Amino acid sequence: MTINIALLGFGTVASGVPFLLKENGAKITAAANADIKIAKVLVKDEAEKNALLAEGKAYHFVTDIAEILNDASIDIVIELMGRIEPAKTFITKALQAKKHVVSANKDLLAVHGAELLAIARDNGVALYYEAAVAGGIPILRTLASAYQADKITKILAVANGTSNFMMTKMVDEGWTYDEALAEASRLGYAESDPTNDVDGIDAAYKMVILSQFAFGMTINFEDVRHEGIRHITPEDVTLAQKLGYVIKLVGEIVERESGIYAEVVPTFLPKNHQLATVNGVMNAVFVESIGIGEAMYYGPGAGQKPTATSVVADIIALAHGIVKGEKVAPFNNFARETVYAKKED
Ligand code: HSE
Repeated sequence: MTINIALLGFGTVASGVPFLLKENGAKITAAANADIKIAKVLVKDEAEKNALLAEGKAYHFVTDIAEILNDASIDIVIELMGRIEPAKTFITKALQAKKHVVSANKDLLAVHGAELLAIARDNGVALYYEAAVAGGIPILRTLASAYQADKITKILAVANGTSNFMMTKMVDEGWTYDEALAEASRLGYAESDPTNDVDGIDAAYKMVILSQFAFGMTINFEDVRHEGIRHITPEDVTLAQKLGYVIKLVGEIVERESGIYAEVVPTFLPKNHQLATVNGVMNAVFVESIGIGEAMYYGPGAGQKPTATSVVADIIALAHGIVKGEKVAPFNNFARETVYAKKED
């Protein structure tokens, strides 16, 4: 059997998908019990299409989403465009056209995830998004499945690769803020507009999504206090070092009696804290729970191959249901969700 997929966008992460399908093709086919074929790729306009064709990219490029939505042979739509629109409209239409969707779009999922998941449910299809948080770390599945018998009490996370990469270069190599940002952009870690990376917004989006999987609760993005690394000076870095600390942009989610509370702030971490050792583009999610105790999940949080690996894992998971002709399980742990969270001052 062949599972036909359509890619929306052909940027850094999207172009990692064909790489993996080629490199690990036999293994992926065996895992999915099907061949995964990139049937169509949506690009912005004719100019982008012509540039990709000129580079020798031999895909069926389209510029009109209708060519994907109306194509009954396409089983899964992979949204890797980022940002809210037109991604939200395209995902909504794909779900309504009864196509499963895989997305890495944390902005969209943090703000409109509940609405999109409801549309998926109403149409009998699924929306999977493992790659939306900590790119290459399979953290959402782990939280949803491995902690079923446990109760998480706190999450601490270094969840933005760009700002962590920048802080590492500024601390270890004395780079300026601008040099570090330019290199993070060149390496494809930063968003096209890096404001979200450096101002803690991207990490705050990830806290919203993590809260759903760790606590079964949705916290509103507006209730996540966030502050970025823009104002950190070399003097701050030196002072922290002298005092035995490392400054990192850390997200925290805790459950209190009134609900869950989340924030993202530059934090003085003692040098011997596990999170203080997370350097470069690496991410880590430090989980405290009643049963397991303390555990840290560590890995690349951005970049082409790590993020594409999580995307392809979602495709394989969806393929299992498609091949068997069964209803695909929803990705998030809706069963536990109470959709209640309150900000505490
Ligand atoms: N810009 C994001 C980061 C990409 O640096 O973490 C992965 O979400």
